[in-house]
Parts: sequence; structure tokens; C-alpha cells
Amino acid sequence: MNKISIIGAGMTGATTAHWLAEREIADLVLVDVLEGMPQGKALDLLEAMPIIGRDVRISGANDYTETKDSDIIIITAGLPRKPGMSRDDLLSANAEIVGTAATETLKHSPDAIYIVLTNPLDTMAYLTMKKTGLPRERVIGQAGILDSARMRAFVAMETGVSVENIDCYVLGGHGDEMVPLTRLSNIAGVSLKEYLPADKLDAIVIRTRKGGGEIVNLLKSGSAFYAPSAACAQMAEAILKDKHLIVPCAAYMDGEYGLEDMFFGVTVMLGRAGMEKIIEYKLDEDEKAMFDKSAAAVKETHEALKNLVKF
Ligand code: APR
Repeated sequence: MNKISIIGAGMTGATTAHWLAEREIADLVLVDVLEGMPQGKALDLLEAMPIIGRDVRISGANDYTETKDSDIIIITAGLPRKPGMSRDDLLSANAEIVGTAATETLKHSPDAIYIVLTNPLDTMAYLTMKKTGLPRERVIGQAGILDSARMRAFVAMETGVSVENIDCYVLGGHGDEMVPLTRLSNIAGVSLKEYLPADKLDAIVIRTRKGGGEIVNLLKSGSAFYAPSAACAQMAEAILKDKHLIVPCAAYMDGEYGLEDMFFGVTVMLGRAGMEKIIEYKLDEDEKAMFDKSAAAVKETHEALKNLVKF
């Protein structure tokens, strides 16, 4: 059985464990600083396995020893947003937490692939790669699957078409400047630009960009967790099953789209080696302008990180 360790057993971490246990693809370890909490959630989830008929070992811990020999490490530890906060407001608190989680887990699982979920996402993925010194194939940020799923859900709500027929590509940074590519997004092969009137499509783009904030404002404490964790589980499954699944994720840029030394949301292929390939689109002028704006915002947070942390 493969092994996945989830660092941070809060809302996203525990719900990721839930989705993964359903899939029966790996034994699971939950790690959190809160005493008893990861052990309690792990035991509760383990006790659900006879009911859903899945043979999965699940344990909880307050240190990293139990994570030994993990195939995948998922980092969700850190603070979530409160109403009025941007993802970037979380930078200094979460940099400390994610940096430690990354280096400590690597000591026990030198071959692991990292999936990062903690915000500000692109920058936390960058921090994980720099702190661990891993090649870019082995550090992937979760964001694009979530942002694209939000857009798919809104398109389904507008059109009444099955979510399975709707493909959306939301790239760029995981912030308000993210780039929903309406030309390439489609319903059964028909571009959304043709399928929907411009005003309806614009409204969907705006709602997608603010999708995380909409949930934060409704919940009032904490941020979204069902959809982010479902995205994480899909990424882990694609890796463990060597699916070569093409999905939007945050990846380290090494010249793609003219970007260097930063994480950014692009379409990638996920398989057993991790981030196996970046699929680069030919962008039109408007799309390129949106990419540049989003990249500038992400670069700013990367610079703020570099002022906080020495690599
Ligand atoms: N090591 C392990 N766990 C930690 C540490 C640490 N050093 N510091 C904090 N945690 C744990 C907290 O105890 C908490 O249980 O991280 C967990 C975070 O869970 P929640 O507060 O429920 O937050 P969640 O909604 O899961 O979001 C976590 O993911 O989507 C992002 O923006 C979100 O950055 C946030 C992160």
C-alpha cells in the first residue's frame, strides 16, 4: 500500500484524508500540532472504514516520525483566511509553519512528492521547493484544479449541462488576478465564448476569481475546504496511479510563458514522477496581458517571502 502523510489535520487536511480514504489508494497519516486532535480524527475516520468497506490504515501524530517513507506529503498546515483578509496576508505566519513542515518531513521521506495547499499558495509551494532543495517535478501546488472546478460549477449552474461535459482552465496565480481562459474552456468542445453570451460569461469569470472569498464571507470563520481537499485527493491519485492526468496546478516556472524562478498556475501532466510536463498554450494578446498582471502579483509575494526567509 502507498502512504500519504497530511501535515495539518484541520478542515482541509482532515477532509483530504476523507476523500483519499474513500479512494483506498494509500495508508494515511495525519500530523498536527494540536495534541490529540490528529489522533482523534484519524481514529474516527478509521472507524468509518468498515462501514464504507475500505481497508486503509489511518493514524494521527504530533510529530513527524510516523510519516516515515511516505510516497506523498500534503502540506495543509497553517492559518486560513478570515473575512477581509487576502491570501497574501497569511504570508509570514504560514511561511514559518510550511518551511518547518517541508524540511522535517523530507528527513523521514526523502523520496516523497509534495503537494502544497497552504496559502498564499504559489509562494508556499516556492518555499517548499527552496527549503527542500527538491527538483521541480516533486513539488506541486494545488490551486488550478480548485479554481477551474469553481468555474465549471458556475457554468453548470448557468447552463444546466452536466459538470462532466464542462472543461475549464483557470491558470495564473491563486489570487484575485487568476486567469480564467474562457476561449479554451468549453462545453463538449464548444468554446464558452461561443456557448454563453458575453455578460453571463463575464459574471462567471468575476465569481470564479472571487470564489474563495465568497466562501470565506459565508463561513465567517475559516475558508473553503471541501473543494480544495477534493482537488488535493485528485492530484494524489493521479500521481500514485501514474495517470498522466492533465490538470491546472501551480508549478515552478523555468522559462515557460517567459517566467523564471517562481510558481505559477499552468496546465501540467501528473504521474508517478510528479509534475511530469507543462503544457504551454499559445495565448492571444488579452490572455497574455492577464497572465502578465497575475504573474506580477505573484512575483510581489515571492519577493516579500525572500525578505522574510533566507534560503
Ligand atoms: N504543524 C502541523 N500543523 C499545524 C502547524 C504546524 N506547525 N501549525 C498549524 N497547524 C495546524 C493547525 O493546528 C490546524 O489544525 O494546521 C491546521 C490548519 O487547519 P485549519 O485551521 O482548519 O485551516 P484549513 O481550512 O485547513 O486551511 C489550511 O490551507 O487552503 C489553505 O488558506 C488555507 O492556508 C490555509 C490552509
